[in-house]
Amino acid sequence: MDGARSVNGRADRRTSGPPGGGEKLADWADGRLGLYGLAKANMRKVFPDHPSFMLGEICLYSFIVIILTGIYLTLFFEPSGVEVVYNGSYEPLNGIVMTRAFESTLDISFDVRGGLLIRQIHHWAALVFVTGMLVHMMRVFFTGAFRKPREVNWVFGWTLLMLGILTGLTGYSLPDDLLSGTGIRFAQGAILSVPIIGTYLSFFLFGGEFPGHDIIPRLFPIHVLLLPGIMLGLVTAHLILVFYHKHTQFPGPGRNEKSVVGMPFLPVYTAKAGGFFFLVFGMLALMGGIAQINPVWAFGPYRPDLVTTGAQPDWYLGFSEGLIRVMPGWEINAWGHTLQLGVFIPFSLFPLILAAIGAYPFIEAWITGDRREHHILDRPRNVPVRTGLGVAWLSLYVVLLIGGGNDVVATHLHLSINAITWFVRISVFVVPVLAFVVTKRVCLGLQRRDRDKVLHGRESGVIRRLPHGEYVEVHEPLAQAQLHTLTQHEQNGHYEIGPLVDAHGVRRPVTASMRVRARLARAMFGPETQIPKPTPEEYRELTSGDHQQH
Ligand code: HEM
Repeated sequence: MDGARSVNGRADRRTSGPPGGGEKLADWADGRLGLYGLAKANMRKVFPDHPSFMLGEICLYSFIVIILTGIYLTLFFEPSGVEVVYNGSYEPLNGIVMTRAFESTLDISFDVRGGLLIRQIHHWAALVFVTGMLVHMMRVFFTGAFRKPREVNWVFGWTLLMLGILTGLTGYSLPDDLLSGTGIRFAQGAILSVPIIGTYLSFFLFGGEFPGHDIIPRLFPIHVLLLPGIMLGLVTAHLILVFYHKHTQFPGPGRNEKSVVGMPFLPVYTAKAGGFFFLVFGMLALMGGIAQINPVWAFGPYRPDLVTTGAQPDWYLGFSEGLIRVMPGWEINAWGHTLQLGVFIPFSLFPLILAAIGAYPFIEAWITGDRREHHILDRPRNVPVRTGLGVAWLSLYVVLLIGGGNDVVATHLHLSINAITWFVRISVFVVPVLAFVVTKRVCLGLQRRDRDKVLHGRESGVIRRLPHGEYVEVHEPLAQAQLHTLTQHEQNGHYEIGPLVDAHGVRRPVTASMRVRARLARAMFGPETQIPKPTPEEYRELTSGDHQQH
């Protein structure tokens, strides 16, 4: 819509008086940017609502807080590997040699107004950001929100998670304290284990021998400019796609693949989102204000010859640490070269575990061969194998996190570190399988319960005594809306190869990939994964005439 028409459109609705300042400004902007047309088309867009949809918002708001606090820190932090002798406000470290990077972190903590608070909010926001992303990703995973047309948005989101982890790593490496230096040393060890090019890579990254003076100045632009810049672009693209596809919605009355039930973007959603932003910001400020995080002055400056027990990465990298800690120290020496498998295998597994969940939507789409769009979410119980795989993936993460903190677990629980290491080595293989089996059984149990509820109603808790003395519990029939929610899901078969011989008696070519696909489809969506939902006939028979419910 052009500017003139939009101005007229509003003038028609004006009731009295000359235009106010705000309206004049709006007209001016509209004439140049066409905002009215844009807003008219989008501001009334309906958004479904559900508490779990706030997870993406938590990611967004903590990301904004990270950027705001990061800008403040950048004003005072000096990414310099130059060595200085500290002589500042924190007496215990006076006279100690450290890099200027560490010294400026101490200055931010003790001398810059609000510096420590901002440092702490920044760190807490980073932890909430990555946690938020993981939980948000699992919400999307368990409800099948990644299905067509949202696969690209899943990839954007997954990339954001990877970049978030990387940005965290580069960020907590900057202060050059004993803990962060140990983290960089860990990363360098992993790089060195790469066959053939490992040493070159390490020299390239560190500008020579470890640690050198270059790594902090190099990490700095990556942390404050490159990674956040890419993430900002991806977040924008992610949100544009959420807007474009519209939000998915949980099953319920009036909701189907074509219609959306919810509140308009303006004013309801924007008001709620605005309020929620301040809630998240306030919570992070509170955490930064009262909960100490990364007290670098207590660790002291980095020295390559020192390391303590209890040196842990931030939680999201804990599982990569676990992989390396529990791996046997295998090593092959041949032709004067050492292949450090004890480090290289876990180092390669780390991205593979993350890639497995990233690729999942495409694998599932290949198995189902389903090309339809899906805007109604799955209830996780109705897709037990996917739900089981998700829980197994999470359980692997948790087991490895225990491995990554084996020293902390050992000292806190007074256990042998070797016992913990062996427990983790075995659990890595056993726990995900157990988690899968148990989750699948629980899902099937819940499906069975849904079926019973539909057919026999809800247990009311009222016990009635019948004339002949028998006690029965009164069941109340479900409302139509609930009946719909519990029975709307599809159970109509899965991909099958079909007859091997066609109608003319000619053998159809069946490739190995077709066989694999059919087998996987049966395992994931076959009869073993579904408790048949009640048919209308069954329902009618049980709820009418002679079969009145108790
Ligand atoms: C910077 C990090 C991220 C931000 C700011 C963000 C933000 C959001 C927001 C605000 C929504 C709409 C509300 C909601 O569904 O929660 C959303 C939806 C979505 N996100 Fe994210 N997200 C991020 C990371 C991720 C990750 C790690 C994934 C998965 C790997 C992901 C996949 C999706 C998908 C598929 C949707 C559409 C869901 C639907 O319509 O039901 N996002 N995101």
